[in-house]
Order: sequence, then C-alpha cells, then structure tokens
Amino acid sequence: MRVSNISQAKDLLEQHGQRQILAFCDELNDQQQGQLVSQINKLDFNNLDKWINELVLNTPLADIPDDFKPAPYYKATPQENEQKALYDKALKLGRELISGGKVAAFVVAGGQGTRLGFDGPKGNYPVSPVKNKTLFQLFAEQIKANSNRYGVDLAWYIMTSPLNDAQTKEIFKENDYFGLGEDNVFIFQQGTMPNFGFDGKILMADKDKIACSPDGHGGSLKALFDSGAIDHMKARGVEYASYYQVDNPLINIFDPLFVGLHALAEAQMSSKTLIKAYPKEKVGNFCIVDGKMTVIEYSDLPDEHAERKNPDGSLVFELGSIAIHMVSRSFVEKINEKGFALPWHRAEKKIPYIDAQGNKVKPTKPNGVKLESFVFDALPMTTSSIILETLRENEFGPVKNATGIDSAESSRELMIACWAGWLEDAGVKVPRKADGSVDAVIEIAAGFALDADELKSKVNEIPEIKAGDSVYLG
Ligand code: UTP
Repeated sequence: MRVSNISQAKDLLEQHGQRQILAFCDELNDQQQGQLVSQINKLDFNNLDKWINELVLNTPLADIPDDFKPAPYYKATPQENEQKALYDKALKLGRELISGGKVAAFVVAGGQGTRLGFDGPKGNYPVSPVKNKTLFQLFAEQIKANSNRYGVDLAWYIMTSPLNDAQTKEIFKENDYFGLGEDNVFIFQQGTMPNFGFDGKILMADKDKIACSPDGHGGSLKALFDSGAIDHMKARGVEYASYYQVDNPLINIFDPLFVGLHALAEAQMSSKTLIKAYPKEKVGNFCIVDGKMTVIEYSDLPDEHAERKNPDGSLVFELGSIAIHMVSRSFVEKINEKGFALPWHRAEKKIPYIDAQGNKVKPTKPNGVKLESFVFDALPMTTSSIILETLRENEFGPVKNATGIDSAESSRELMIACWAGWLEDAGVKVPRKADGSVDAVIEIAAGFALDADELKSKVNEIPEIKAGDSVYLG
C-alpha cells in the first residue's frame, strides 16, 4: 500500500507499531515531509512485522540440517589424464568466451567498510605496495590488461549503495574511468533495509530520515536486474558475470579455467574455494544439503563436523568460501522473473540514531539490528554449480581492517608474496629474510604481467632485486 501524505502515513505506521518514524514530522517543512513519505513508501510492509518478530525481537537458531556432506570440487590443477583433458577443453572454451566479450567483471562495492574506518568508498582505498594504487585502479588495470590480451573491450559492472554511489561515480569521472572508457563501466545501486532498535522499532537517522543500510551483497542479484545492468549485459552479449568483492586486490577477474568449467557444466552460479587453514577458519563451508549446493557459515558449522578428518589427515569439510563466483546472466534473469527472496541474516551493530528528544546519538556499543542478505544463499537455487579450488597465495588478500589480520598491511604482504612467487617461477632471484618472507617491496602492474606465465616472457626486462629494494614493474 502506498501513502501519499503524512496523515495516511500515520495510519499505516500506527497499524505496524512504527509511529515513532513521524515523531518530529510537525517540525519538518513540506519538502522534508515529502521525502519522509517517499522513504516510508519504500518499506516492505507486507513483510516488516514478520521480519521484526522473527529476526529482530528474536535471535533465530541456525537451521543446520542433519544430513549434509562436503561438496565436490575441482582441484586447482588436474589430477589425472581425463581431468587434464577436461581442464584443457575448459581453458579453450573460457578463452573463447572472454575473447567474445561474453564475460564481464562484477564487483560488489556497496558495503559500509566500517571495520576499515576509511572515509569514502572502499574501492578508493590506496593499497598497492609500491605505488599505493587504489583498489579501483588495480581492478581497472587488470580489466584493461585482459581487454588487451583478449582483443576486446571487457565490461565492468560496479554495485554501489546509496551510501557511496555519488562518491564512486565522482571518483570514476575524476579518473576518466581509469582509461577503460565510460561505455565499458556500468555503476548501479543496490537496495537498502531499515535499521531496527532491539525493541523492533525502526530507528531514525534524523528527523526526516529513516536509518537504513545496504541490504547485503545478496542484494546484488536483485539490483543487477532492477538497475538495468542485466539489460545492458544482454545488449552487449555478456553471458557471465565474474563476481568478486571490492576488498580483494588479488582477485583473478578473468580466469579462463573458471569460466570454462562453469560454462561446460551449464552452471548457473559457481564458486572458487580455498582449502581452509584450520577447522574453524572464518570462511563459509561448501556443503551439499538435500542435494543442493549450500554454504554453511563457519559459526553455524558444529564443532564435531568442523574438526572431522579424513584418514589422510585433511579436513572432511575443508572447502572455504571466499566470495568469488561466476554468475550466469540467464540465472539472474530467471530468478528475478519468477520472483525470489534470499534469507535475511541478523547482525547486532552500532547504529547512529536520534533519540526521543531529537538528539543525534553515536552509540559506543551495539544498539540495534541490521538485516543483510548474502549472495551465497542463492547457490541452493541453482540446478548446476561447480567449485574450483584456488590457491590462497594467488588469489586471496582481503582488506577488511586497518591493521592486523585481513588488513591493508597483510594484503600488501600477500601481494608481495604472490608477485615474488611469479618472479621466482620465472627464474628471477628474490631476496628473502631468514623466516622466508620477501626482503623487498615488489609491485607488478597488471599491464606488465597478468600472471606468472606472462612474466616469464618479460624476464629480460626485470632488474636485479637486492635486499631492501623497492621494485615496480609497470
Ligand atoms: P563485508 O561483509 O566485508 O562488509 O563486505 P563491508 O561493508 O565491506 O565492511 P564492514 O563489515 O562494514 O567492515 C564484503 C563485500 O560485499 C560488499 C562490500 O562492499 C564488500 O565488497 N557489500 C557488502 C555490498 O556490496 N553491499 C552490502 O550491503 C554489503
């Protein structure tokens, strides 16, 4: 039901126990009242009371089925001859699909990045070891280098949220779309969810503003469709979106093996995995539940399962999810045309709000609940989905925090370690400290080499690297 003015809004909010939204409406001018009414119209009153009861006022217990087993997967390198033939076929097909412009980059960059505490879109965070390039610039250079390699303008889809959309667009404009050409970059916004106090009341960010936050990376599957990104893909002939997170500078966006294995399996949404370092590592676990591909979060995987070992000592549930997916356009079209909903996940957070007197409050401890959906919850909706192993040192260096674990600092170390590995593969001597870590600051631009093999062809252009050197290959 839509309301057209404050008085209609009052009745509607009364029915749902949310009158506090209008607590200050008498102080608002006509324009502010109009804006508030349009925010109220965006609330999903058909589901609101149910969500509040089930997820805000209560903490639902994780619904872990009795019967689940580890998911099958493809190892990073083929294990026997028949598999080698399959990987060769997949590589060939993957390269053809990329060259045909049928694969696009798709980064989700709508998050709030609260842990990093950086002012502005996370993609604008400077991160590369020598040149301090931003995440956006690193991705753009990788897309450009792939466009050159495959002889086609590859498209880049970027999901933002109302929090950072304008700033993100400004950054791309200021940087002239990082040399990719405006036509090859499509920036679109995801949806939002209202924030709740622990009493189930929607919080207000200001007298005329409902407190909202992005609806989670799961919102991407709807936003792709609603924003017109899917139509844009269709018009360009893009069939697959290579999904990754804005905080992983080590992502290999156009991996022909992953594309090819996904396409050969006629899969709808596929994933990359890494082998967990320890049983309760904070990554989701790929499992088969009732015959369906499913990710069980680390916090929901019972200890006895997490700790279970195979006779060879490996973990039974060893496949960690690192938020790298291949998504078929036809899958996004199909689920949106049929209508779908991903489950909401509850998170207790510090949510800035205005109190009953209208004072702005910045809480120091969690004061309410945000609801988010996760993209991997779409996996059980697929009828075909493959998993490909990737090596941690090659493709996973998340920037979540300012310092410590999963920080810009650790991500830089991982980038250096990865590039040092490529150099050594190519026969270049890399200085190392006694503990084995690299004793130099190294950066290899995507335009110089996209992978270890390409670096081998440039070995003559690489200077000698001495301990303590800062080396940029670009
Ligand atoms: P995270 O779960 O790390 O969240 O997002 P975050 O918002 O970036 O950071 P914190 O938790 O506030 O510190 C993983 C990826 O999903 C994207 C993020 O931008 C990041 O690439 N994301 C997350 C969205 O695009 N939208 C969302 O609503 C949430």
